[in-house]
Amino acid sequence: MNIKDAIVKNSTLSRLLKICNDEKFGSVYVVGGFIRDYFFDVQCKDIDLSVEKNSLLLAKKITNMFNGKLENSMFSTHSICFKHFRIDIANMRKETYIRPGNLPKIKLTNDIRDDLFRRDFTINSLAASLNSKDLGEIIDPFDGLSDINNQILRNNHSLSFSDDPTRIFRAIKYSNKLRLKIDYETEKQLYEYKKFIKNLSATRILNELNILLEDDFHLNFKKLSKYKIMTEIENNFIPFTDKISSYKKLPLSKLQKIYLLTKNIDKMVAENLYTKSPEFFEWSNGIKLNNKYKNIHFNKYTSSRNLHLFLKDLPREFLLFMELSENRDYVKKQLSSYLKKLSKIKLFINGSDLLDIGYKKGPIIGNILNQILLKKISGEIKTKSDEINFAKMKMR
Ligand code: CTP
Repeated sequence: MNIKDAIVKNSTLSRLLKICNDEKFGSVYVVGGFIRDYFFDVQCKDIDLSVEKNSLLLAKKITNMFNGKLENSMFSTHSICFKHFRIDIANMRKETYIRPGNLPKIKLTNDIRDDLFRRDFTINSLAASLNSKDLGEIIDPFDGLSDINNQILRNNHSLSFSDDPTRIFRAIKYSNKLRLKIDYETEKQLYEYKKFIKNLSATRILNELNILLEDDFHLNFKKLSKYKIMTEIENNFIPFTDKISSYKKLPLSKLQKIYLLTKNIDKMVAENLYTKSPEFFEWSNGIKLNNKYKNIHFNKYTSSRNLHLFLKDLPREFLLFMELSENRDYVKKQLSSYLKKLSKIKLFINGSDLLDIGYKKGPIIGNILNQILLKKISGEIKTKSDEINFAKMKMR
């Protein structure tokens, strides 16, 4: 099969061919991911189209045809969203970056080569025509096909990482996902321009980190450590990656991966990250929770009551992660039995019952409920009337 057959056999693209031949749109190309993933023989997630003219009109026509939902961005790109995939459409464009890490200025072009030049890596800078006169013809100005063959990840041009430092995170993603070797010059540019990561907004950094947490997270964070990339976000932000491969098979949630990666990071980093932007909350909180946990003095004879006092401020998801990752056997057992007990224990009364018996709104409500929970864990309180009596007794 060649790319022309792949286009014709693709259930989405084949339906688009007729619309794409309308003169109003000029040349229309499928670009980037679809072609790259075809040659790497992996499932393509989204389809990106680059069009010479009238991208919005094309987007509207496709939206109607597929009954999708159209979203337009501030960069005049259009996304048509379906349940499980997306089509992104943009007019062919050139980009200029005034300052490293800032968003680009855009100028329209009618040359697909200009549009390919603005992209990140040679393997992504491929276009295949969707017009009937040259259907499936590949435009490959940077030898992307040869890099795909040789499994090399190479920047399109020497300022690619300086223009857009999020591409450094993307380099890590592609090199692991597609098992590519990062080209020598590209690697040199990565070292040279990683300092510009500081110029990125928290939203853009977190977006890239979230993607890297999805697949192969252990390999991604090992590589981020190898290139000392996280410390460009904040000094001493050094994720825990020792023996991290042993965690790859565990069914960890995104938050639990953050708990793992923030195992050995100094408390100060949590404060600094949060000051930089509250958007770093999950990472900053992960560091704080790990530091709290480290200060707990477990011993083999800790009572359930004390265990509850130690653990009551730690979220359940964190404790579940600790139960998985703890290597002191007796602590692991204590965590298991605590979590088991906790899942069975339900209070009969809640905050409004306390208000009914005369408590005033405020932190006291949570405090009393927690004291009742403590008594239930230690077995001193059992029934609903025990709970109410205890609350009444505390009011006196
Ligand atoms: N791109 C870029 N620089 C970025 C982000 C994207 O040059 N910081 C370009 C790439 O050429 C990419 C295209 O925009 O091919 C579309 O981006 P995206 O949808 O993120 O990537 P895909 O190639 O579709 O890959 P994936 O399957 O990983 O989403």
